[in-house]
Amino acid sequence: MREYLGLIFAYLGDGEPPAFPLLPEFDHPEYVIKHEVSLWPCNYFTQLDNSMDQAHTAIVHWQFQRGVPTVSAEETEGGAVVNVVGPGYRNPSYFMMPNAHEWGSPPRLGGKNKWSYARGWRVPVDDEHHCRFGIDVVPMTGEEADRYRQQQAERWARATRPWMDVAEDVIAGRMSPRDLKPEDYPDLVNIQDYIAQVALGPIARQPFPERLGRSDAAVSLVRKIWERELTALAAGRPLTKWRRPDTLWTEISASGGDLQ
Ligand SMILES: [Fe+2]
Repeated sequence: MREYLGLIFAYLGDGEPPAFPLLPEFDHPEYVIKHEVSLWPCNYFTQLDNSMDQAHTAIVHWQFQRGVPTVSAEETEGGAVVNVVGPGYRNPSYFMMPNAHEWGSPPRLGGKNKWSYARGWRVPVDDEHHCRFGIDVVPMTGEEADRYRQQQAERWARATRPWMDVAEDVIAGRMSPRDLKPEDYPDLVNIQDYIAQVALGPIARQPFPERLGRSDAAVSLVRKIWERELTALAAGRPLTKWRRPDTLWTEISASGGDLQ
Protein backbone atom coordinates (compact mmCIF):
# COMPACT_ATOMS: atom_id res chain seq x y z
CA MET A 1 0.00 0.00 0.00
CA ARG A 2 1.12 3.55 -0.62
CA GLU A 3 -0.33 6.96 0.18
CA TYR A 4 0.05 9.35 -2.73
CA LEU A 5 -1.65 12.65 -3.60
CA GLY A 6 -3.99 12.19 -0.65
CA LEU A 7 -5.23 8.77 -1.79
CA ILE A 8 -4.25 5.26 -0.69
CA PHE A 9 -3.23 2.89 -3.48
CA ALA A 10 -2.95 -0.88 -3.04
CA TYR A 11 -1.49 -3.57 -5.29
CA LEU A 12 -3.87 -6.55 -5.29
CA GLY A 13 -2.06 -8.78 -7.79
CA ASP A 14 0.29 -11.71 -7.27
CA GLY A 15 4.04 -11.44 -6.74
CA GLU A 16 6.07 -8.27 -6.57
CA PRO A 17 4.15 -5.08 -7.41
CA PRO A 18 5.29 -3.20 -10.52
CA ALA A 19 6.92 0.24 -10.24
CA PHE A 20 4.48 2.70 -8.70
CA PRO A 21 2.99 4.94 -11.41
CA LEU A 22 3.93 8.47 -10.37
CA LEU A 23 2.11 11.56 -11.66
CA PRO A 24 4.74 14.27 -11.30
CA GLU A 25 2.64 17.11 -12.71
CA PHE A 26 0.08 16.71 -9.94
CA ASP A 27 2.64 16.23 -7.20
CA HIS A 28 3.53 19.61 -5.71
CA PRO A 29 3.12 20.19 -1.96
CA GLU A 30 1.62 23.68 -2.40
CA TYR A 31 -0.82 23.15 -5.26
CA VAL A 32 -4.50 23.35 -4.38
CA ILE A 33 -5.89 19.83 -4.49
CA LYS A 34 -9.46 18.65 -4.09
CA HIS A 35 -10.43 15.01 -3.64
CA GLU A 36 -13.56 13.14 -4.57
CA VAL A 37 -14.51 9.64 -3.46
CA SER A 38 -17.97 8.30 -4.20
CA LEU A 39 -19.78 5.02 -4.90
CA TRP A 40 -22.17 5.09 -7.88
CA PRO A 41 -24.90 2.45 -8.31
CA CYS A 42 -24.31 1.77 -12.00
CA ASN A 43 -22.05 -0.35 -14.15
CA TYR A 44 -18.47 0.74 -14.89
CA PHE A 45 -19.12 0.87 -18.63
CA THR A 46 -22.02 3.29 -18.23
CA GLN A 47 -19.63 5.85 -16.79
CA LEU A 48 -17.08 5.03 -19.49
CA ASP A 49 -19.64 5.82 -22.21
CA ASN A 50 -20.46 9.08 -20.42
CA SER A 51 -16.84 10.14 -20.03
CA MET A 52 -16.02 9.36 -23.66
CA ASP A 53 -19.08 11.22 -24.91
CA GLN A 54 -17.76 14.76 -24.64
CA ALA A 55 -20.77 16.08 -26.55
CA HIS A 56 -22.97 15.37 -23.51
CA THR A 57 -21.59 18.56 -21.95
CA ALA A 58 -23.70 20.64 -24.36
CA ILE A 59 -26.92 19.09 -23.07
CA VAL A 60 -26.36 17.63 -19.60
CA HIS A 61 -24.17 20.48 -18.32
CA TRP A 62 -26.25 23.26 -19.88
CA GLN A 63 -24.87 25.88 -17.44
CA PHE A 64 -21.57 26.04 -19.36
CA GLN A 65 -23.46 27.21 -22.45
CA ARG A 66 -21.33 25.18 -24.83
CA GLY A 67 -22.50 24.04 -28.23
CA VAL A 68 -22.27 20.49 -29.53
CA PRO A 69 -18.62 19.94 -30.50
CA THR A 70 -17.01 18.01 -33.31
CA VAL A 71 -15.41 14.96 -31.70
CA SER A 72 -12.55 12.80 -32.92
CA ALA A 73 -10.55 10.17 -31.08
CA GLU A 74 -7.46 8.07 -31.56
CA GLU A 75 -5.66 5.35 -29.69
CA THR A 76 -2.49 6.35 -27.83
CA GLU A 77 0.23 4.53 -25.93
CA GLY A 78 -1.84 5.13 -22.77
CA GLY A 79 -5.36 4.48 -24.07
CA ALA A 80 -7.16 7.14 -26.09
CA VAL A 81 -7.18 10.87 -26.68
CA VAL A 82 -10.43 12.68 -27.36
CA ASN A 83 -10.24 15.91 -29.35
CA VAL A 84 -13.18 18.24 -29.15
CA VAL A 85 -13.59 21.30 -31.35
CA GLY A 86 -16.36 23.80 -30.78
CA PRO A 87 -17.41 26.83 -28.75
CA GLY A 88 -16.06 26.55 -25.20
CA TYR A 89 -13.93 23.46 -25.87
CA ARG A 90 -10.22 24.14 -25.83
CA ASN A 91 -8.26 21.04 -25.01
CA PRO A 92 -8.18 17.29 -25.39
CA SER A 93 -9.03 14.81 -22.68
CA TYR A 94 -7.42 11.45 -22.11
CA PHE A 95 -8.56 7.98 -21.23
CA MET A 96 -5.90 5.82 -19.65
CA MET A 97 -6.46 2.09 -19.97
CA PRO A 98 -7.92 0.46 -18.08
CA ASN A 99 -9.74 2.91 -15.84
CA ALA A 100 -8.49 6.49 -15.51
CA HIS A 101 -9.33 9.81 -17.12
CA GLU A 102 -7.37 13.08 -17.25
CA TRP A 103 -8.74 16.42 -18.37
CA GLY A 104 -8.31 20.15 -17.96
CA SER A 105 -10.90 22.75 -16.98
CA PRO A 106 -10.68 26.38 -18.05
CA PRO A 107 -10.65 29.39 -15.69
CA ARG A 108 -14.09 30.36 -14.42
CA LEU A 109 -15.59 33.78 -14.09
CA GLY A 110 -15.67 34.71 -10.41
CA GLY A 111 -13.54 31.67 -9.55
CA LYS A 112 -10.09 30.38 -10.30
CA ASN A 113 -8.11 32.35 -12.83
CA LYS A 114 -6.10 29.36 -14.02
CA TRP A 115 -6.79 26.09 -15.70
CA SER A 116 -7.15 23.15 -13.37
CA TYR A 117 -6.18 19.59 -14.11
CA ALA A 118 -7.96 16.49 -12.95
CA ARG A 119 -7.45 12.76 -12.88
CA GLY A 120 -10.23 10.35 -12.05
CA TRP A 121 -9.93 6.63 -11.36
CA ARG A 122 -13.14 4.63 -11.89
CA VAL A 123 -12.98 1.25 -10.18
CA PRO A 124 -15.57 -1.46 -10.89
CA VAL A 125 -16.94 -2.89 -7.63
CA ASP A 126 -19.44 -5.36 -9.14
CA ASP A 127 -21.71 -5.35 -12.20
CA GLU A 128 -23.98 -2.73 -10.67
CA HIS A 129 -21.57 -0.39 -8.87
CA HIS A 130 -18.35 1.47 -9.49
CA CYS A 131 -16.29 3.63 -7.18
CA ARG A 132 -14.81 6.98 -8.14
CA PHE A 133 -11.58 8.41 -6.81
CA GLY A 134 -10.65 11.81 -8.16
CA ILE A 135 -8.17 14.61 -7.74
CA ASP A 136 -8.55 18.13 -9.06
CA VAL A 137 -5.36 20.18 -8.96
CA VAL A 138 -5.05 23.94 -9.45
CA PRO A 139 -1.40 24.94 -9.95
CA MET A 140 -1.40 27.87 -7.50
CA THR A 141 0.99 28.42 -4.60
CA GLY A 142 1.45 30.86 -1.70
CA GLU A 143 -1.09 33.64 -1.07
CA GLU A 144 -2.82 33.03 -4.37
CA ALA A 145 -3.50 29.43 -3.31
CA ASP A 146 -4.71 30.53 0.15
CA ARG A 147 -7.15 33.00 -1.43
CA TYR A 148 -8.46 30.37 -3.78
CA ARG A 149 -8.94 27.84 -0.93
CA GLN A 150 -10.96 30.46 0.97
CA GLN A 151 -13.11 31.15 -2.11
CA GLN A 152 -13.75 27.46 -2.54
CA ALA A 153 -14.64 26.97 1.14
CA GLU A 154 -17.27 29.70 0.78
CA ARG A 155 -18.57 28.15 -2.42
CA TRP A 156 -18.90 24.65 -0.94
CA ALA A 157 -20.58 26.03 2.17
CA ARG A 158 -23.62 26.76 -0.02
CA ALA A 159 -24.33 23.03 -0.36
CA THR A 160 -27.06 22.35 2.19
CA ARG A 161 -27.18 18.57 1.76
CA PRO A 162 -25.24 15.78 0.04
CA TRP A 163 -25.27 16.17 -3.73
CA MET A 164 -26.13 12.48 -4.26
CA ASP A 165 -29.37 12.93 -2.27
CA VAL A 166 -30.32 15.79 -4.61
CA ALA A 167 -29.63 13.62 -7.66
CA GLU A 168 -31.71 10.75 -6.21
CA ASP A 169 -34.59 13.19 -5.63
CA VAL A 170 -34.54 14.18 -9.30
CA ILE A 171 -34.43 10.54 -10.48
CA ALA A 172 -37.36 9.70 -8.17
CA GLY A 173 -39.37 12.68 -9.45
CA ARG A 174 -39.35 14.50 -6.11
CA MET A 175 -37.49 17.41 -7.71
CA SER A 176 -37.39 18.81 -11.22
CA PRO A 177 -34.07 19.25 -13.02
CA ARG A 178 -35.29 22.82 -13.54
CA ASP A 179 -34.83 23.37 -9.79
CA LEU A 180 -31.08 22.82 -10.10
CA LYS A 181 -29.54 26.29 -10.18
CA PRO A 182 -25.72 26.47 -10.39
CA GLU A 183 -25.59 29.06 -7.60
CA ASP A 184 -27.41 26.69 -5.20
CA TYR A 185 -25.58 23.48 -6.06
CA PRO A 186 -21.78 23.78 -6.19
CA ASP A 187 -21.59 20.09 -7.17
CA LEU A 188 -24.04 20.48 -10.05
CA VAL A 189 -21.79 18.69 -12.55
CA ASN A 190 -21.71 15.54 -10.41
CA ILE A 191 -25.48 15.77 -9.84
CA GLN A 192 -26.11 15.99 -13.58
CA ASP A 193 -23.75 13.16 -14.50
CA TYR A 194 -25.20 10.95 -11.76
CA ILE A 195 -28.75 11.52 -13.05
CA ALA A 196 -27.67 10.84 -16.65
CA GLN A 197 -26.04 7.53 -15.70
CA VAL A 198 -27.93 6.10 -12.72
CA ALA A 199 -31.36 6.83 -14.24
CA LEU A 200 -30.48 4.27 -16.97
CA GLY A 201 -30.54 1.51 -14.32
CA PRO A 202 -27.74 -0.45 -12.64
CA ILE A 203 -26.84 -1.95 -16.02
CA ALA A 204 -27.89 0.45 -18.77
CA ARG A 205 -30.62 -1.00 -20.93
CA GLN A 206 -31.38 0.76 -24.19
CA PRO A 207 -35.08 1.10 -24.97
CA PHE A 208 -34.21 1.50 -28.67
CA PRO A 209 -31.55 -0.03 -30.94
CA GLU A 210 -28.37 1.94 -30.36
CA ARG A 211 -27.27 4.20 -33.20
CA LEU A 212 -23.89 5.78 -32.58
CA GLY A 213 -23.24 9.05 -34.41
CA ARG A 214 -20.14 11.09 -35.24
CA SER A 215 -19.99 12.67 -31.80
CA ASP A 216 -19.72 9.12 -30.39
CA ALA A 217 -16.33 8.55 -32.07
CA ALA A 218 -14.58 8.18 -28.71
CA VAL A 219 -17.27 5.89 -27.29
CA SER A 220 -16.87 3.62 -30.30
CA LEU A 221 -13.06 3.63 -30.17
CA VAL A 222 -12.80 2.78 -26.48
CA ARG A 223 -15.38 -0.02 -26.78
CA LYS A 224 -13.25 -1.53 -29.59
CA ILE A 225 -10.11 -1.27 -27.44
CA TRP A 226 -11.84 -3.02 -24.54
CA GLU A 227 -13.23 -5.72 -26.83
CA ARG A 228 -9.80 -6.33 -28.34
CA GLU A 229 -8.10 -6.57 -24.95
CA LEU A 230 -10.77 -8.79 -23.39
CA THR A 231 -10.70 -11.09 -26.44
CA ALA A 232 -6.92 -11.37 -26.07
CA LEU A 233 -7.28 -12.04 -22.33
CA ALA A 234 -9.83 -14.80 -22.94
CA ALA A 235 -7.56 -16.39 -25.56
CA GLY A 236 -4.48 -16.22 -23.34
CA ARG A 237 -2.72 -13.80 -25.67
CA PRO A 238 -0.54 -10.96 -24.28
CA LEU A 239 -2.31 -7.70 -23.48
CA THR A 240 -1.18 -4.24 -24.60
CA LYS A 241 1.37 -2.69 -22.25
CA TRP A 242 -0.22 0.71 -21.67
CA ARG A 243 1.95 3.65 -20.73
CA ARG A 244 0.94 7.17 -19.72
CA PRO A 245 2.50 9.51 -22.35
CA ASP A 246 5.39 11.68 -21.16
CA THR A 247 4.07 14.52 -23.32
CA LEU A 248 0.58 14.53 -21.87
CA TRP A 249 0.71 17.85 -20.04
CA THR A 250 2.78 19.55 -22.69
CA GLU A 251 -0.04 18.86 -25.13
CA ILE A 252 -2.66 20.18 -22.73
CA SER A 253 -0.63 23.34 -22.02
CA ALA A 254 -0.05 23.98 -25.70
CA SER A 255 -3.76 23.85 -26.35
CA GLY A 256 -4.80 26.42 -23.79
CA GLY A 257 -3.62 25.32 -20.33
CA ASP A 258 -1.10 27.33 -18.35
CA LEU A 259 0.68 24.75 -16.23
CA GLN A 260 4.42 25.14 -16.72
FE1 LIG B 1 -20.57 15.09 -17.49
